[in-house]
Amino acid sequence: MRTYQNITTETESAIGIITINRPKQLNALNKETIAELHEALDNFNKDKTIRVIIVTGSGEKAFVAGADIKEFMYFNPVQGRELAAKGQELLFDFVENLETPVIAAINGFALGGGLELALASHIRIASDNAKMGLPEVSLGVIPGYGGTQRLAQIIGKGRAMEMILTAEMINADKALNYGLITEVVPQTELITAAKNKAQKLMKNSPKAQSFAIKAINATYTKAGFEVEKDLFGQAFDTEDFKEGTAAFVERRKAEFAGK
Ligand code: CAA
Repeated sequence: MRTYQNITTETESAIGIITINRPKQLNALNKETIAELHEALDNFNKDKTIRVIIVTGSGEKAFVAGADIKEFMYFNPVQGRELAAKGQELLFDFVENLETPVIAAINGFALGGGLELALASHIRIASDNAKMGLPEVSLGVIPGYGGTQRLAQIIGKGRAMEMILTAEMINADKALNYGLITEVVPQTELITAAKNKAQKLMKNSPKAQSFAIKAINATYTKAGFEVEKDLFGQAFDTEDFKEGTAAFVERRKAEFAGK
């Protein structure tokens, strides 16, 4: 099996397990990690002995703490839009439309691009220490990997609007109550719970499941995703974005001028 720099892959009883493995950066998604995830997902999807894919994060602290802020903080608006477009094409839209069901096993922080990866997955379960949120507006930007669309699709517009505008995280119990996840278990039991869920999925027709994924996804229009990419790019031209990202790396509170 191919060795990757930022992820690990393994197979067990017709399950493909992908672990995002940049623990020092809380598994933040840089360009290379997105490319590797694309490749691993594509390979598992093409392998017909693999019936379900589980995606999780390494360590006990984070699933994924978002897109890699240090990678994009000096991007211009064109590069910002391209980041969103490329990421959506390679990972987020790709996962959502994969024929093989994907379970996100959320083992800790799932923030920004991390929650967006979980939202694009077909099923989401979490450990009891998990924290979920879309904190982008606290950085002077908006979710750019489909979060403005998929969060509202899954938990409703009102709750999505509140989560995105406050930038606050919610815990696993609240996420369960919102329908953002469907199961909460102690952290030590998370992978077993994901594998049990995978076993349940495997009882059914893979062909019919791939048709069901396609049919369910067909309800949602793509227009909003284009608006999101445009506005994500535009945000890179604002003083607030420069201040928000600088404040993150300098570990201080951002002072937004609204410009
Ligand atoms: N990008 C890059 N590096 C990140 C990161 C991210 N999203 N999240 C955490 N890290 C890094 C930190 O900079 C830190 O690195 P150093 O040790 O080199 O300083 C390391 O991971 C550990 O993080 P902290 O010291 O901050 O850990 P903490 O326990 O104090 O806080 C946290 C944990 C609350 C998750 C905090 O790290 C945090 O707020 N992270 C950023 C979350 C965020 O804003 N995500 C959205 C990103 S933007 C996005 O995703 C855009 C999009 O939609 C396309």
